[in-house]
Amino acid sequence: QITPVILCGGSGTRLWPRSRATKPKPFLPLVGDETLFEATVGRCAREAGFSAPVVVTGAAHLEHVEAQLATRSDARIIVEPSARNTAAAIALAALRLPPEAIMLVCPSDHHIADCDSFQQSAHAAARLAQTGWLVSFGIAATAPETGFGYIRQGSALEPDGFKIDRFVEKPDAARAQAFLDEGGYHWNGGIFAFAAATFLAELEAHRPQMAAAARAAVAAGREDGHRFHPDADDFARIDSESVDYAVMENTDRAAMVLADMGWSDIGNWQALHAAMPRDEAGNATRGRAELVDCANVLVSSDGPRVSVIGASDLIIVVDGDEVLVTTADGAQRVGKLGGAVNQ
Ligand code: GDD
Ligand code: MG
Repeated sequence: QITPVILCGGSGTRLWPRSRATKPKPFLPLVGDETLFEATVGRCAREAGFSAPVVVTGAAHLEHVEAQLATRSDARIIVEPSARNTAAAIALAALRLPPEAIMLVCPSDHHIADCDSFQQSAHAAARLAQTGWLVSFGIAATAPETGFGYIRQGSALEPDGFKIDRFVEKPDAARAQAFLDEGGYHWNGGIFAFAAATFLAELEAHRPQMAAAARAAVAAGREDGHRFHPDADDFARIDSESVDYAVMENTDRAAMVLADMGWSDIGNWQALHAAMPRDEAGNATRGRAELVDCANVLVSSDGPRVSVIGASDLIIVVDGDEVLVTTADGAQRVGKLGGAVNQ
């Protein structure tokens, strides 16, 4: 059995105006009817060999998490007293599980089109994790993205995977391009499998202070039904560092499975457009919209009907009293709209 550990953290603003601090990306139905969080929980189904999920989240998201966990009454929630990034969040879950538990760490804000393929990769990763590996999901790298980790595929491992002989988190554009030119590199999908004890041993080896503070926070923590509250003072002492930098770049036990599952981190509106069902001309709509003679247009409206004629390669988003109009390329620069986005 695999224990899903679902991370719900920071709020991205790259899908503004739909995603905002008060209703961040994981809790929105962006691709289908389910929210990304609900879909993440749903992929880790009991029938597919997953046990009760552990959700690690901050108090700000607790209400959304509990409302959207309705179908998993067995879920447990760890409520972080402050945001300390993913290494700390994963450490909390590892410390609350039996040492031999095989954890599958899942971000809650990704889209995965092929659920069967995800489940197969998860079981392949779990088998490697049982023999002491820290396993990443390798995604075919198609562009020199700088927002991802890059992993180089090394020698084959039994039964089904590879060693990672190099893990580079978020390289600059030139290095990312060099990795693509060289070949043999994949993107790190941000999904990891390891035994709880393996993770804690590696954190201890590479970031002993973080491990000690996490241990203290859990030891002094408080149970509250299905919720667990780590001690706020101890937790506040943990360095804010992602698992990629703290552990995966440093460990000698990094491995990967090749995951071909229609993965997208939906990093901006252009990526969301690509993940949505589209017509033959590449148009996608959500909410009330009428498109005439359009190609590659995305309209997403939560209210007013949007009518578009003769446009191509355009993204139009309506949310309450905010409207965003951008080209596909401009979608990557939504963060530059400082004023509106940070309201
Ligand atoms: N509970 C909790 N607490 N969750 C957190 C925290 C936190 O403090 N910080 C981040 N998360 C959650 C996010 O909500 C997301 O679901 C996941 O952990 C990953 O964090 P991101 O902040 O989205 O990481 P990233 O996208 O920059 O990079 C990671 O993912 C890439 C793939 O999407 C890395 O693992 C990269 O190497 C990887 O390529
Ligand atoms: Mg991310």
